[in-house]
Amino acid sequence: MMQNQTFRFDKMTMGVCYYPEHWPKSLWREDLRRMKDAGISVIRIGEFSWSILEPRKGEFHFEFFDGFLDLCQEENIKVIFGTPTATPPAWLTETYPEVLNALKDGTLLRHGARRHYNYNSGIYRKLSARMVEELAAHYGRHPAIIGWQIDNELNCETDEFYSDADHEAFREFVRNRYQTLDALNEAWGTVFWSETYTAWSQVFCPRPVLNGGYNPHLLLDYSRFISESCVNFAALQAGILRRYRKPGDFITTNGMFGNLDNHRLQQEALDIYTYDSYPDFAFELDKKQNTSPDVKDRKWSRNLTEVRSICPHFGIMEQQSGGGGWVNRMEMPSPRPGQLTLWAMQSVAHGADFVSFFRWRTCTFGTEIYWHGILDYDNRDNRKLKEVKAFGKRLHSLDPVCGSDHVAAFALIKDYDNEWDARLDTVHRRFGKYSEAELFAASQLSHTPYDIVYLRDDTLPAELAKYPVAFYLHPVLMNEKREEVLRAYVEEGGTLVLGCRSGLKDMRGQCVMKPQPGLLQQLTGTDVKEFSAIGPDEEGDPDAPVWNDALTALPGTMVLRRYAAGYYPGQPCLTEKRNGKGRVLHLGSAFSQNMVRYLFEYTGILNLFAPYADAPEGIELVMRDKNGRRFIFALNYLPTEQDMVLKVPARDMFKGEKTEGTFTLPPYGTAVFEPEQE
Ligand code: GAL
Repeated sequence: MMQNQTFRFDKMTMGVCYYPEHWPKSLWREDLRRMKDAGISVIRIGEFSWSILEPRKGEFHFEFFDGFLDLCQEENIKVIFGTPTATPPAWLTETYPEVLNALKDGTLLRHGARRHYNYNSGIYRKLSARMVEELAAHYGRHPAIIGWQIDNELNCETDEFYSDADHEAFREFVRNRYQTLDALNEAWGTVFWSETYTAWSQVFCPRPVLNGGYNPHLLLDYSRFISESCVNFAALQAGILRRYRKPGDFITTNGMFGNLDNHRLQQEALDIYTYDSYPDFAFELDKKQNTSPDVKDRKWSRNLTEVRSICPHFGIMEQQSGGGGWVNRMEMPSPRPGQLTLWAMQSVAHGADFVSFFRWRTCTFGTEIYWHGILDYDNRDNRKLKEVKAFGKRLHSLDPVCGSDHVAAFALIKDYDNEWDARLDTVHRRFGKYSEAELFAASQLSHTPYDIVYLRDDTLPAELAKYPVAFYLHPVLMNEKREEVLRAYVEEGGTLVLGCRSGLKDMRGQCVMKPQPGLLQQLTGTDVKEFSAIGPDEEGDPDAPVWNDALTALPGTMVLRRYAAGYYPGQPCLTEKRNGKGRVLHLGSAFSQNMVRYLFEYTGILNLFAPYADAPEGIELVMRDKNGRRFIFALNYLPTEQDMVLKVPARDMFKGEKTEGTFTLPPYGTAVFEPEQE
């Protein structure tokens, strides 16, 4: 069973990221007082401060932070201390260049910037452990401290590592996994292109090859390896922090990045997971990836849904408060008036009980001079500070919502093996990304919210049973254990929805020599004898995009839809097979928004909010539940006013008054309603 959340906030809490080392000491007390005045009670500090804490090897200095933490204690501001391992100091990388990360071609990443280290260097692990131990021993009992952040954004900047230490550790990793070279050769299909290994010394992390034609099975194991290296590095620090922290203080880390099994990270190292939410990136994504603009910054609700699956009552360590930008890359507009609050409320709606803004004041030097915080360079009170203050008041009115559970209409099943396969397999990636984006858009626009459930080796059917419907969009990689969990879910009454290319591969990423959908065939009652990607000149069936598996319905299986065009007009594209008390719907293509909406309707889950409210597509509705008390968040993402209708009498939590009927949300406005109990 996953989700070992061992810490929860007991009331809604507002924080901010602060860097005392960036400001004259004469500003500290005034800063803390202004924070308090705005309703901020917690700050996160220290995560890039190794060169202050250990300016020379083995010389530890705590005077700087002693002074600052005592001030925090005096001013009654609580502190989350970040371990500084994301930024090894110059003396360290100069003395031990082997701690540096390298590019695929072996070029070492040099001092400067951040995250230029690797997880597997023995000396880096040793020096990091010593730094963390000194820090935890010194501050573990400090009354101002309430928690610890490990490193900063593990696997951010890059989630690939190619130093000598990584090559060695990878070799060890696959050796443990396969025991013999024969088994490794078999698993990686190395006979193809004469890649066969005859000695372990020939095995490396991916190194440059022509046309990116890597061995895909090696790449899959490489993702697993990076994930494990990262989790081990975090667990090393967590073990030390645990020995020194006060009872009740938590261990966390921030962000959510690639090549990382975040669920395992939570399980093995953290008490609570925190995420860094910068919804402005959504607009960049639209530009870069040409994704559907229908849901814009609401895409961050998808990320928050993912975070919730890791840790249901999470925190936001960095919540965007200003426009983003580095001097050399990234350029984001400032959140419009109201948008800062909207985005912070989006986090709360999806499960955050702690929201800490990034950052108190924009830095006047360094790479991030354009990454704007609450206060600007001039340090005057401004509109953003006013918004934070007003948000703090609203957050306080949501104390009864703290610790409540998100209510979903259905589950989206995912797993890391398929995530990582889609990363290396362009075809898998194409329909995988497409379907997930369309499912999300359909869910948002039709007010049919979902939870994500990661299928793992220890997942029990009971974890799925509370959802009447589960979409597992494209489980290309499948094994018997997972098939059994799915089967049990269906037999007990669940509706499972599967898409194209399900069951194509085994867990090594090799295609199975079985009729498709492989191990899932008994469940779907279908056979795939013909399949094709939709060609560039082919219009295809708009409701069955990207890829078409022509489904043959085996006896006992019903055909619900046939391809209207494309490669297989007239052939089944959507089928239904009853199994026990439940059923399996099999779609031969990727999922279009239209098709998802049809499936919501067909399975009876469309619009969770129908009994409570009518809201236009531009408003996101989110429901939380605490022992039967329901709270409905309404978030207006548009720069214009929008009306919704409350069909039942409810309490407006921000205003503390009763309301019913038409309710107008201002541009970027938010509201939380508690429907009256009958
Ligand atoms: C985050 C990071 C912060 C800061 C911020 C703005 O990813 O954790 O340290 O860099 O982005 O760039």
